[in-house]
Amino acid sequence: MKSTYEDVERVLISEDEISNRVSEMAHEIDEYYADSGKKLLLLGILKGSVVFMAELMKHIRIPVEIDFMKVSSYGGGTVSSKNLTILLDLKRNNLPQTDVLIVEDIIDSGRTLSYLVDYIKLKGAASVRTCTLLDKPSRREVDFEPDLCGFTIPDEFVIGYGLDYDEKYRALPYVGVLKPELYEK
Ligand code: IMP
Ligand code: MG
Repeated sequence: MKSTYEDVERVLISEDEISNRVSEMAHEIDEYYADSGKKLLLLGILKGSVVFMAELMKHIRIPVEIDFMKVSSYGGGTVSSKNLTILLDLKRNNLPQTDVLIVEDIIDSGRTLSYLVDYIKLKGAASVRTCTLLDKPSRREVDFEPDLCGFTIPDEFVIGYGLDYDEKYRALPYVGVLKPELYEK
């Protein structure tokens, strides 16, 4: 069977670069929340964030809990793609005693995270911040800045390290750019 590696045009961010940056981010998280006095919850957004989340949490030294939400930007196919639908919700009764750090793979228009930050604040979390592996600021449609960002990248569609194209390539260990002919199909 053909390897998914053959579909990659080029590696944008290598495994080593990612792992160095992710451990730096974990140290920043340790320092920021060290004296908070609340529980820290890493809230991963499925599915793209799972690889980043797994790597990040291994480097965090302070006590941390994890949870996941899943959102779809297709609103059941009838409403505008700008509407988000919550497919898996966060159910916790201790949010007022919890600092929530939302963990995302990539920020594009900014709609997903700006919606989720408001949503988790409305649920009453002690604090809500965001952490993304990648950011494409040139694509922003709403005003949104992450609190912590791994890499700022140009306006290119990327795959790997959790990110998919048509549900494929999430398992690649680096962030890469697909061969352009593969987008046409
Ligand atoms: P936003 O709401 O437009 O910021 O969308 C962010 C979501 O779009 C991410 O969680 C990804 O699922 C998806 N996305 C945006 N850009 C890319 C990309 O280059 N590769 C893979 N997924 C992407
Ligand atoms: Mg995503």
